[in-house]
Amino acid sequence: MRLFGLQKIGYYIMEKIIISPSILSADFANLERDIKKVETNGADWIHVDVMDGHFVPNITIGIPVVKSIKKVTNLPLDVHLMIENPQKYVEDFAKAGADIITFHYEAVEKEEILNLIKKIKSLNVKAGLSIKPKTNPDDILEFLPELDLVLIMTVEPGFGGQEFMYDCAEKIKTLKENSDPNLYIQVDGGINEKTAKICKDFGANALVAGNYIYKSQNIKQAIESLRN
Ligand code: DX5
Ligand code: ZN
Repeated sequence: MRLFGLQKIGYYIMEKIIISPSILSADFANLERDIKKVETNGADWIHVDVMDGHFVPNITIGIPVVKSIKKVTNLPLDVHLMIENPQKYVEDFAKAGADIITFHYEAVEKEEILNLIKKIKSLNVKAGLSIKPKTNPDDILEFLPELDLVLIMTVEPGFGGQEFMYDCAEKIKTLKENSDPNLYIQVDGGINEKTAKICKDFGANALVAGNYIYKSQNIKQAIESLRN
């Protein structure tokens, strides 16, 4: 127990927690303004939620928007693909300016996952793999050595503003124990000051937050409260 506690302290000392505000909660009519709002207040990455109405029951934004956003921010674009058949689109997202492309384990045949990770990396983009709440983290352990990032969903993907699912956060521990410290272990869904702490205690080092940041009266403080 003591060792585990020390290790946890180690995460705080050694790792900077990456904060990636989700522009799903921004005003799409004022996207540049809302990106600047987080960029000038401590955000590390910009999280872009791409939904196709098939993999998830919602439709959001796609390649042309990523291309436009790229022109107005210096922050890395953290593109979360909640789409079927991501193989077909990763090249276009890379060309549009994605710096990280995360696709869903549930959207691709298991035999094709490794190839897709390699393809993303060959495009000079960091590769991420995400799991939905009902997916067992053991299913993706074999891919960890190839990945730059794993994304644990703590809500059913599709919409912002949902309630954090505590059971899903426990998966962080399994992934942390089976990966090296360079892997980004990112959590997405229902993140606020309280749930961020739970995730960091389990070993997460990257957090996505939409509503908590964009609905806050003080964006700088909201971002800092997630990091510290
Ligand atoms: C959900 C998206 C999330 C979402 C997070 O499908 O992947 O990125 O925007 O929003 P909050 O932080 O409001 O739960
Ligand atoms: Zn997301």
